[in-house]
Amino acid sequence: MKKVLILGGSGFIGRNLSLFLSKAGYEVYSFDLVKPTNHVLPEAHYIAGDFFDDDDLKSAIEDKDYIIHAISTINPGNSNECYVRGYEKDFLQTVKLCNLLIGRSTRLIFLSSGGTVYGHHEIQPINENVLPQPINHYGNIKLCMENTIRTFNYQMHIKMLIVRISNPYGPGQDFKKGVGFIDAVLKNAISGEPVMVWGDGKNVRDYIYIEDVCKMITSLMEYNGEYDTFNVSSGIGVSQNEVIESVKGMGLKPQVVYMDKRSVDVRKIILDNSRMKTVWKKELITLEEGLKNYYNYLLNEN
Ligand SMILES: NC(=O)c1ccc[n+]([C@@H]2O[C@H](COP(=O)([O-])OP(=O)(O)OC[C@H]3O[C@@H](n4cnc5c(N)ncnc54)[C@H](O)[C@@H]3O)[C@@H](O)[C@H]2O)c1
Repeated sequence: MKKVLILGGSGFIGRNLSLFLSKAGYEVYSFDLVKPTNHVLPEAHYIAGDFFDDDDLKSAIEDKDYIIHAISTINPGNSNECYVRGYEKDFLQTVKLCNLLIGRSTRLIFLSSGGTVYGHHEIQPINENVLPQPINHYGNIKLCMENTIRTFNYQMHIKMLIVRISNPYGPGQDFKKGVGFIDAVLKNAISGEPVMVWGDGKNVRDYIYIEDVCKMITSLMEYNGEYDTFNVSSGIGVSQNEVIESVKGMGLKPQVVYMDKRSVDVRKIILDNSRMKTVWKKELITLEEGLKNYYNYLLNEN
């Protein structure tokens, strides 16, 4: 069995990837600050460690065939306050991780942010060849990491992969960490609390159900084609107001509070997924299906 290390394995995407990669026949090693107490997979190996501790990182990557880098200590919303940490720690440790991989056959897959690396663009959906011009530090830090990976690829004649994920939602997400509009709308509609919208609700995002994200990333594990960067997205743009309308259509009554718009948010971001679809060719879960799936999951969880 091929061994895959998931850095940030207990997080939203890491936890879901652990499940999918296990099901796909990989031996999963989930690395996070502490071992989880719930959603534990009996077949997975859990490693408690600190990504920023060189010894922890060195010993975790030993003997692994694949590494998925799913750790970020900042998000778009807090990146104006925390960006120095992002450059100093997240970026630098990612450089060190690449350095540790020199001379090994381990493949790295880096989770980048399709929603923030591109910045403002007139022509949408945006494909991978467009010049990324992030407007917030979170996106720029991701781009610095991406460029570092591409430089290592060029210098070492290897192919680490970069996945630019759009706006994932689904089981395991926690909007209180700062990301996850759909998560916030559904959970707050259930609990009767208002959901905050930064701006007029017309910001358009490319929402993708977490299951599809995992399927796409899993399909890239053995990818040996020419590209190193993939948009992982639905390719469909939906405004926040449209999400709210869809949730109302499910019989829920979300209360919405419109706040001032934020400088960290682009108006519209839709990612062209045609490159990804040459590898993962199946139909994606629609927003309506995804909302229902996630809502049912939340009801059963409570
Ligand atoms: N969620 C999204 O909307 C989204 C979209 C695009 C890209 N991404 C990227 O995907 C990756 C995963 O995102 P997520 O939403 O699952 O984040 P998350 O915050 O849910 O998970 C990150 C995990 O990393 C762990 N972690 C943090 N610091 C650590 C350290 N020093 N050592 C070990 N573990 C540590 C956390 O405990 C957490 O479990 C991130 O790099 C994020 O930037 C996320």
